[in-house]
Amino acid sequence: MRKPIIVGNWKMNKTRAEAAVLADELKALVGGVKEVDIAVAVPYTDIDRVKKSLRGSKIRVGVQNVAWADSGAFTGEVSAAMLVEAGVEYVIIGHSERRQYFGETDESVNKRVRQALKYGLKPIVCVGETENENLQGLTGLVIERQIEADLEGIDRKDLSKIVIAYEPIWAIGTGRTPTAEQANETIAAIRREVSKLPQGTKAVAAKMRIQYGGSMNAKNAAELMAQSDIDGGLIGGASLKSADFAAIIEAAKNSVAGGEKA
Ligand code: PGA
Repeated sequence: MRKPIIVGNWKMNKTRAEAAVLADELKALVGGVKEVDIAVAVPYTDIDRVKKSLRGSKIRVGVQNVAWADSGAFTGEVSAAMLVEAGVEYVIIGHSERRQYFGETDESVNKRVRQALKYGLKPIVCVGETENENLQGLTGLVIERQIEADLEGIDRKDLSKIVIAYEPIWAIGTGRTPTAEQANETIAAIRREVSKLPQGTKAVAAKMRIQYGGSMNAKNAAELMAQSDIDGGLIGGASLKSADFAAIIEAAKNSVAGGEKA
């Protein structure tokens, strides 16, 4: 069975004071939910403040990047050891905004994924096509290339620790989404790609949790979560409002109420 996983990507939002307010609200609304894994990926400066607010709840803390080196002369980077010490569990890697604005490549994504796993951090690896690629019918090819390169050389036993987030770039922050069926089809294709990796197997792919991301909100979450292969969501804008994020978690909870995804 794949347990649903909903992760809020706060991006570059929320000062410590603002983060405390949101985290307090989330703890009150969804802090006791057991059926869904919940995390918030926060700015580094918010980590300890958010952890303080979430103490005693089941909500975990993540961040939005991790350095690929252990330590040293890497100005501006934050190491896996530093994150582990700070109590971080999840790390988003290869978000399209990092690929687009900060020169992240499949090669650097792969290095960061390896480093996260080495330190016991749980990577959330983002893949997805641009609008042009989508219009040209290249989604399947783009996904195949990214899965192969981003997960290259990762041990079979580590693959199941990874969460993949399928985020069509044209759906991020735009209010537009693929239909739930289209999202499900692409996510099923990602699962097939994982099974076809040299170190992949059908069993590993069947266990891997794959999220949808891109304008997922309180309104469309139930339909997306009802799909056979969509195991959760990576939520940007709607994760900044506690009521909206809680509604998405409720939809995820209901999606497995009648059975399980397998
Ligand atoms: P969005 O962002 O929900 O605001 O579209 C999703 C993401 O970028 O992870």
